Amino acid sequence: VNPPRPALVATNEDSFAYITTTSRWPIIVTKIIDDIYKTRHLLDLSEVDKLKEGKEIIDSIGELKYSMQRKKPLIPIEDDGDPDIGTWTYVFNTYFKDDNWYSATWLFTECYLYRRIHSMFARTKHWNDYDPFFRQKEDTFKASYNAIIEIAKRIDELVYIPKLHADNEEINSGRIIFHELVRISLWGNSTDLSLLTNLSYEDINKLQDMGTKKLEELEKNILVNDLEKAWNYISEHRNSRIDIILDNAGFELYGDLVLSDWLIQSGYVKEIYFHAKKIPWFVSDTTPNDFNWILQTLQSEDFFLSASEIEKSFLKKFSNRLQYYIDNSQLILTSDYFWTSPYSYWHLAEQAPNLYADLCKSNLVIFKGDLNYRKLVYDCNWETTTPFKDAIGPLASMKGSPPILTLRTCKADVVVGLEEGTEERLTANEKDWMYSGKYAGFSHYAYNGT
Ligand code: F6P
Ligand code: MG
Repeated sequence: VNPPRPALVATNEDSFAYITTTSRWPIIVTKIIDDIYKTRHLLDLSEVDKLKEGKEIIDSIGELKYSMQRKKPLIPIEDDGDPDIGTWTYVFNTYFKDDNWYSATWLFTECYLYRRIHSMFARTKHWNDYDPFFRQKEDTFKASYNAIIEIAKRIDELVYIPKLHADNEEINSGRIIFHELVRISLWGNSTDLSLLTNLSYEDINKLQDMGTKKLEELEKNILVNDLEKAWNYISEHRNSRIDIILDNAGFELYGDLVLSDWLIQSGYVKEIYFHAKKIPWFVSDTTPNDFNWILQTLQSEDFFLSASEIEKSFLKKFSNRLQYYIDNSQLILTSDYFWTSPYSYWHLAEQAPNLYADLCKSNLVIFKGDLNYRKLVYDCNWETTTPFKDAIGPLASMKGSPPILTLRTCKADVVVGLEEGTEERLTANEKDWMYSGKYAGFSHYAYNGT
């Protein structure tokens, strides 16, 4: 099945696909080179093989950057022994072997870029599990200190609100908390390291101010808001299972954990599956290693050195609860190669039948972030008034498909579900409204058998 609209491509010079290909990727790739230099610098001179391999990776990445900037043809990804390499080779040979970095669909080239980078590391002996983005993810999380502490205090107040008795007042307070925590999880998506290639400490703090006043101010930037429908669904399905298709590590993941903590503590949700990426992806995406790292970090005494005793106690209680959920299989980390495949989610059931069957057991699948949204709507040039249901293709029409909720800040030239006139109003003042990260949306769809 293919969508009835053309795919986004970087040959359109007015597009964000073009900006990304010409300006953002070279910066992202250069940062990888810098990162390897830093790591090599820390190595002992006796680690001759590792130093040599590091230099080889730097050279390959340099070549990659050159080929991208000169619009060279795409080449097949070298076999690195990972189980998904066959899929990549098939998709490449079938659809893109005559393309270059600009002519192939943007969704493909961007995923291909990260998969090729992974392959450069995966084929070495000493760098095969190295994450060239880890340092950036770690540094940004450290810089998120203020917001982390503020939110830890807030969740500490919220989880001690009495458990459900199903009376109206309680459901109403649950509703308010749900709306607030989902917004924190949503706006956490603005801290995406692939978009913000030049973030200062101040910028991070500004972006992460999640005080009530700031959340209210941001409200006008939410262009599609189906959150109430999702809430009705959650409040009607006690003891449910929720899946979160994660996006970025660090502060965004922290927001997802906070939301999950409350959903479990409040009794609405019994278990939550977190779906991470198998390999380093789109700079800041969460890998299993990032997930484990954040838990250890929240538990460690020395990461937040300047925190007061009381602040540390909020973090400690929060991280102890998370550990408890993990130990009791209420919070389950999982990952599947499908999330880093070249396929859009229109192909989920056919390309990853087991994963799809498992997701069908969920009461709500939450897709975080921009790339997940792009993959859901097949990254094509939809009219902005296209209903979300139409843009997600088979996921909206297959019997048994799970209900979906997206939490996305807009960072690509594709938005659906808007009311008539919204696009015109925004375009009149802000040429870049679709991809500046300023606007956002919650789109929900539940199959009802009709
Ligand atoms: O570069 C493409 C892109 O999808 C952007 O549109 C976005 O800035 C980034 O990659 C990933 O964003 P997110 O982390 O929200 O998926
Ligand atoms: Mg991401």
